[in-house]
Amino acid sequence: MRAVVMTEPSQTSDRTEVGEVPVPRPGTGEVSIDVSAAGINFIDVMARRGDPGYATSWPYVPGLEVAGTVREVGHDVDGVSVGQRVAAFTAGGGLAEVALAKAALLASVPEQVSLPMAAAAPLMLSTALLLLTDVAHLQPGDSVLMQSASGGVGSAVAQLIPLLGGGLRIGTVSTATKLPDAQHSGWDVALVRDDELTEATRAAAGGGVDVILDPLGTTMLDGDLAVAAPSARIVLFGNAGGGQPAPLPPLGRLIGGNVAIAGFSMSGLTATAPERVARALHRVLGLLADDSLHVPVTELGSLDDVAATHQLLADGHSRGKYVVPLTTKSWQPSTERRDRSARRHRSPVRQAARASRSPGRARVVPVRPWST
Ligand SMILES: NC(=O)c1ccc[n+]([C@@H]2O[C@H](COP(=O)([O-])OP(=O)(O)OC[C@H]3O[C@@H](n4cnc5c(N)ncnc54)[C@H](OP(=O)(O)O)[C@@H]3O)[C@@H](O)[C@H]2O)c1
Repeated sequence: MRAVVMTEPSQTSDRTEVGEVPVPRPGTGEVSIDVSAAGINFIDVMARRGDPGYATSWPYVPGLEVAGTVREVGHDVDGVSVGQRVAAFTAGGGLAEVALAKAALLASVPEQVSLPMAAAAPLMLSTALLLLTDVAHLQPGDSVLMQSASGGVGSAVAQLIPLLGGGLRIGTVSTATKLPDAQHSGWDVALVRDDELTEATRAAAGGGVDVILDPLGTTMLDGDLAVAAPSARIVLFGNAGGGQPAPLPPLGRLIGGNVAIAGFSMSGLTATAPERVARALHRVLGLLADDSLHVPVTELGSLDDVAATHQLLADGHSRGKYVVPLTTKSWQPSTERRDRSARRHRSPVRQAARASRSPGRARVVPVRPWST
């Protein structure tokens, strides 16, 4: 079968190829899935560059979330049948024609939800939901600040806050060119992370912020603390820059500031509390099915576009969420309603490369591929 294969760690896409690999067979408690669509995530890039704890071995097949139909059911799996439409969290290996998943980490895809849209649910949408509910304990009316708000998880968080009863949404981006993307994602206030950020955030919130979601390691932590309201929850859930994290603030600053700092790891949770991951997945698929949740996604042309898309993410030039279709045979049953927020867009990366002066080198996609 065809799969995206990273042959060794690299900062660029030069060690990523589409290759033939054996079709995996499910072990105990697992199923294999004929993948119809797979989500692209920044964590793929962290694996590619060799950050500790991401790629388990090399060569490595990336991919942490898929949607498709169950191909084969392993031992000790109940309630899952061959042919069932599912979305699943995969522990790597998702960017392939067939992927393995633990049966405990999948959910049925409702008829109303297209498989490309469902492919964004296991990691992106479930992470966004769990950050707000299980970790930040979002309360009605709570204001939320999110660092790096225009990416995949950022746009999902923006859409979920009002559904959960949250209040003002403030999203930050690295450069002014990304402000329209953050606004388009739904953030009420979009701010550039510059020297004025603390002041601008406090002005927008009318004081402190209740919930702060931060995937930037510890680089913004001082600023997070400076805008935290009494009883604020700061959630650290990534290290996009890949640098060495600084020590956490002294106890006195947390006690004196009446502030909590929490961490979140989806892969950690899949190991320690898979039922919570599956429950979140089921819930976001339900929100998609009843049309409450609309998160734009860009569909790539094929697996051949993945390496360049990873580079877009690595360069910080991605816009929203990308998914890649794998096959067409089981992809769109005639009864399936195409989710209106899932737009098929032929190879935005190739368009960008063609328009670029240095062909093959990804840069900002010159069109808005995911506008609704
Ligand atoms: N803990 C977990 O379980 C978990 C699960 C899913 C995702 N995550 C984390 O959540 C973040 C968003 O993930 P995603 O898949 O939504 O990613 P994405 O769409 O690629 O967005 C990532 C954003 O990170 C920002 N960024 C900051 N430093 C960067 C750098 N050195 N290189 C590239 N981008 C950089 C960019 O926004 P600006 O330019 O505005 O800063 C970019 O839009 C990632 O950091 C990821 O690791 C964590």
